[in-house]
Amino acid sequence: MLDTVQPSLAALPPVESDSLLALIALCNADPRPEKIDVGVGVYRDAVGNTPILRSVKKAEKLLWERQRSKGYLGSRGDVRFAQLLRPIVLGRHADDARIDTLQTPGGCGAVRLGLQLIAAANPAARVLIGTPTWPNHPPMAEGCGLEVVRYPFYDADRRVVRFDAMIAALETARPGDVALLHGCCHNPTGADLDPQQWHTVTRIVAERGLFPLIDLAYQGLGRGLDEDAEGARGILDACDEAIIAQSCDKNFGMYRDRVGTLFVKTADRDSTAKAMAHVLQMAREMWSMPPDHGAATVRTVLDDEALAADWRAELATMRERINTVRAEIARADPRLAYIAGQYGMFSMLPLTLEQVRALRDQHAIYMADSGRFNVVGMSDDALPRFIAAVIEAMDG
Ligand SMILES: Cc1ncc(COP(=O)(O)O)c(C=O)c1O
Repeated sequence: MLDTVQPSLAALPPVESDSLLALIALCNADPRPEKIDVGVGVYRDAVGNTPILRSVKKAEKLLWERQRSKGYLGSRGDVRFAQLLRPIVLGRHADDARIDTLQTPGGCGAVRLGLQLIAAANPAARVLIGTPTWPNHPPMAEGCGLEVVRYPFYDADRRVVRFDAMIAALETARPGDVALLHGCCHNPTGADLDPQQWHTVTRIVAERGLFPLIDLAYQGLGRGLDEDAEGARGILDACDEAIIAQSCDKNFGMYRDRVGTLFVKTADRDSTAKAMAHVLQMAREMWSMPPDHGAATVRTVLDDEALAADWRAELATMRERINTVRAEIARADPRLAYIAGQYGMFSMLPLTLEQVRALRDQHAIYMADSGRFNVVGMSDDALPRFIAAVIEAMDG
């Protein structure tokens, strides 16, 4: 008999559970009817629902009537869908033949695929990530075998971007290192770069030969579709090579349908074609092809003038609600005034871990331990109670 130990799945180390998933489970188990869940990152309307958009519902009906086959689409996914997104995401760069696109399973799939492509071309690239960031960014980079370099992005005491620290990190990076940038509506802080800061970052990225990877998961939920994409478009103005990872999951409210796209730009069409061949091979290895329904629905919306106009109106309604709630929270206390100057669904409250826990125990208000909360996580009815409880916690 061999005396070696047979490798076994039982030898796997335990995985630290995702604290946000644990929070959701805790909240679900809480029997108090007045509970408020501002932990999970989905849009909720004035009555606390995460609605299916009108335009999406109509498009799904049309799709059901019109779709004649569920045959395979291929690794590129829905080509027309990706084409229709070009003007929305790329704006003045929509006709640039050096930029190619494919459909991915959500923004997450796009970020992962983009990092994987960079790792294939330059395994020595390091990924510069400002912290705090979306918790999935570092493991996705490391999962591609890339080293992560963290720099402080946000000053939690002064509630502003630590722009000097960001610039220092970019200025000391090596050519080919990846600048992973939030396109808009920074998750978790809500603190976006202003146009002047984007200009400076873009100049440094271009001058130092860094590789820009822009994560554009919340386009249209901050200032507007064009305004929210301007940082990414400025990067495309200045850089020969860039990647944009885009998601329709938030701005079409299609979270579970996993709708995203990857945009790859290189210096010339031949290099783009070569990069895309790699991307398609990688997609084939990971998920073979993306799910159809969400992208086909978005395509149906964007291909129909009336539905597309309705979607823009619905997106504006979501954006206005986010900004109205922000203003209301900001007005309630000078210590919360900064929230009105931030964008997107998230901000961080100036609370200690004990205060976050007290909100949970005493008021059934559930938010991440970091104090990150979903600005539109509660109904209009619950908002005054939320604000009062947060002020009480800050005072205590
Ligand atoms: C910053 C950021 N990037 C990407 C994603 C991924 O989005 P999706 O649900 O489309 O995969 C998220 C989702 O929460 C996010 O917050």
